[in-house]
Amino acid sequence: MPDDRRTLETREPADETVEPPESFVEQANVSEESVLECFEEGRQGWERAAELLDWRDGYDAVFDEDSNAWLPGGSLNVSENCLDRHVDDGRGDARALVWEGQAGETRTYSYDELLREVNATAASLRSLGVEENDIVTLYMPMVPELPVAMLACARIGAPHVVVFTGYSAEALAERMRESGSSVLFTCDGYYRGGDAISLRNRAETVRVSVPWEVTTVIVDRFGSVDAGTGASDYAYDSLVEEHAGASVEPVERDSNDELFYIYTSGTTGEPKRVTHTTGGYLSHAAWTSHAVLDIKPDDTYWCSADIGWITGHTYVVYGPLALGTTVLLDEGASDFTSRSKPWKTIEEYGVDIFYTSPSAIRKFMKWGEEYPAAHDLSSLRLLGTVGEPINPRAWRWFYEHVGDEDCPVVDTWWQTETGGHLITTLPGVHDMKPGAAGFPLPGVDAEVVDAEGGRVEPGTGGYLTITKPWLGMPRELSTRERWAEHGDDEPPDLSEFEHAYFTEDSAFVDEDGYVTVIGRVDDVIKVSGHRFGTMEIESAIADVEGVAEAAVVDGRRDGQRVMDAYVSPSDGSLREDEVRGAVLKAVEEKIGSFARPDRVVFTSELPKTTSGKTVRRLLTEIASDEEPGDTSVLRNPEIVGEIRSSLRDE
Ligand code: WTA
Repeated sequence: MPDDRRTLETREPADETVEPPESFVEQANVSEESVLECFEEGRQGWERAAELLDWRDGYDAVFDEDSNAWLPGGSLNVSENCLDRHVDDGRGDARALVWEGQAGETRTYSYDELLREVNATAASLRSLGVEENDIVTLYMPMVPELPVAMLACARIGAPHVVVFTGYSAEALAERMRESGSSVLFTCDGYYRGGDAISLRNRAETVRVSVPWEVTTVIVDRFGSVDAGTGASDYAYDSLVEEHAGASVEPVERDSNDELFYIYTSGTTGEPKRVTHTTGGYLSHAAWTSHAVLDIKPDDTYWCSADIGWITGHTYVVYGPLALGTTVLLDEGASDFTSRSKPWKTIEEYGVDIFYTSPSAIRKFMKWGEEYPAAHDLSSLRLLGTVGEPINPRAWRWFYEHVGDEDCPVVDTWWQTETGGHLITTLPGVHDMKPGAAGFPLPGVDAEVVDAEGGRVEPGTGGYLTITKPWLGMPRELSTRERWAEHGDDEPPDLSEFEHAYFTEDSAFVDEDGYVTVIGRVDDVIKVSGHRFGTMEIESAIADVEGVAEAAVVDGRRDGQRVMDAYVSPSDGSLREDEVRGAVLKAVEEKIGSFARPDRVVFTSELPKTTSGKTVRRLLTEIASDEEPGDTSVLRNPEIVGEIRSSLRDE
C-alpha cells in the first residue's frame, strides 16, 4: 500500500450474531430453501429475478458469455412494469405514492392516477420533440413530479439524468454538456431543512453554460411559475394539463438499452458517468427489493434517500414500484432536521419498512431514544441501512430503539456502479452480525484479495473485488476490456479472475464468511452518505486566489463524519478569513453548498513524503481529533505539530 492511502486495517469481526425474529422468517419473501434451490445452477439463478418482470419478448439466455450481456434478446418497458401491469392486475386503486411536503401538505397517487400523470408527461415530452434515446435532465427535488418524469422518460425510451438539487448550476451544466442533453425538467424552488431554496437562477445559468438551446420545463413548487419566462420555458402544469388523458404506448426496449445515466465521483476531478440498462438493472432492482427489503404489494415502504442519488433511483423509484407497493416520499426526509418527525411519519403512515443511512441513525442516536419511544412504531417489520459502514453500537441502537428487537436490520453494501445490493444478509435466512454487511447475494461472487490478487486469510483486510458479472452491472463494464477498470495507482492484480471489478473498497471476511466493509481505499470520501472525489473539491479550492495547494479529507468527530480542507496559502499577506470565505464560495459554486467542508484549516505546508506526496492518513487523524500516528515517512514531520497547535488555538 502506498502510504498516502487509507490503511487496510484489520478489524475484529463482531463477536455476536442476532437471529431474525421467527415472526419475520415465517412471512419472508425469500426462505432458505427457495434461495439455495434457485441459485444452485450458478448464474442461471438470476432468472428468478427476471421472472419478477413482464417481458414483451422473452430473453434468449440469462447471461451471454460472448457479449457479456444479461438477458440478451429480451425486450420490455420499465414504466409498463412499474405501472400498467399493476393496473391490469386490478390494483389501480392501490396507493403508489404518498408524498409529504416540507410545509406539511400531502398528495397521494393511486397506481391509476400515477399512470395517468406519467402518460400525460410522456405525451408532453413527445410534444417538446423528445424522441427515443434523447437524454432528458431532471434537476428536481423530492416531489412526485420527479418519479413521474423518470417513468415518463422510461415510457418513451429517453434515458434520464437525475441531478441532485444540491449541485450548483455549474455542476448541472457540466452534466448536461457531458450527456448531450437539451431538455431540462426543474422546479421554481424547493424546501430543504426548513429553508426555501430557489432554483430559478440555476436553470437560467444553464442556458448560458450549455452551448446549445435548452428547453426547460418548470414545476410549480412555490407558486411562482406563470407561463414561463423565455421562449423555450414551459410551465409543467399547463403542459401536462394540455396532454391530460393522453395514452402513450410504452416503447419496447431491449434488455441492454440504456435506462438512465447517473454521475458519481471518481478519483479524477471530473464527474464519472455510469449507465444502467433496462432489463438487467430493473430485474436486479426488483429482485433485491423483494429478497432483501422484503417488499410486498400491501406494504408502506419508506427509503429516506434523495432520488438524486443511486439509492433513490433503485430503492425509492424502480425496485419498489416494480413490485407494486406504496412508496412514501418525504420532501424533507434526508435532512432529518426534526427530532420527532421520522417517528411521527412512521406512526402516521404505518410504515412497514424503513431504509436509511448510518449517518442518519447516528444522528437519531445522539438525539436520544426518547424520541422514537414517544411513538408507536409497531408497524415496522424490517429496517435497512446503506451508504457507509455502520458501527455495531449504532446498529444495536437502531435494532433496539426503532425495531424493538423485532425487525431484522439489513446492512446493504452496494455502489452507484453495481445498480443494486450485492452484499448483505437475507433477512429471512441469515443471522445478522452488527457491523458486518453480510454475504455476497446468491449469484454474486466477491473476493477479498491482496495487492497480488491472492485471496487473503479470514480476518485480514484486503481489496473487495467482484469476480463475476452481476445482473445490475452498468453498461460501461459490460465489455471485457473495461472490466477491471480502476482509478487507483496501485490496484490489486486481478488477472487470476476472468472477470473482476475492483470496488475501491477495503474489507475483510471473517471465519463465518461475513464480509465487513472497512471503507474506500481511493481518494473518494463519504460525507453524510454522499460520495465525493477529493480531487473534485480540491481542484475547486486550488482555483482560489491565494491558495497554493489543498487536501480534503474526512474524519469522524462526535460520532459524525466530517470533512476538513487543509489549505496552504500561496501568499501569506492575504487575510485567512478572506481566503476561507473564497474557498467556501468556490466549492459552493463549482459543486454545491452540500459539499462545503466543515472546517478550513490553514497550514504553511501539507504533510508530504520525500517524494512529494501528501500523506492524507495523518490529516484524517487530525480531522478526527486523534493522536497522529507514524510521521517517519514525512519530509516535514514538524508540520503535523504545527497544524495541531493552530487548531488548539482556535
Ligand atoms: C460505501 C451508495 C459499508 C462503500 C449505495 C461504497 C458502504 C460506496 C455500504 C458507494 C455499506 C455503501 N457498508 N460501506 N452497507 N454501502 N458503502 O456509489 O464505500 O454513493 O463503495 O452508492 O459507499 O457509494 P455510492
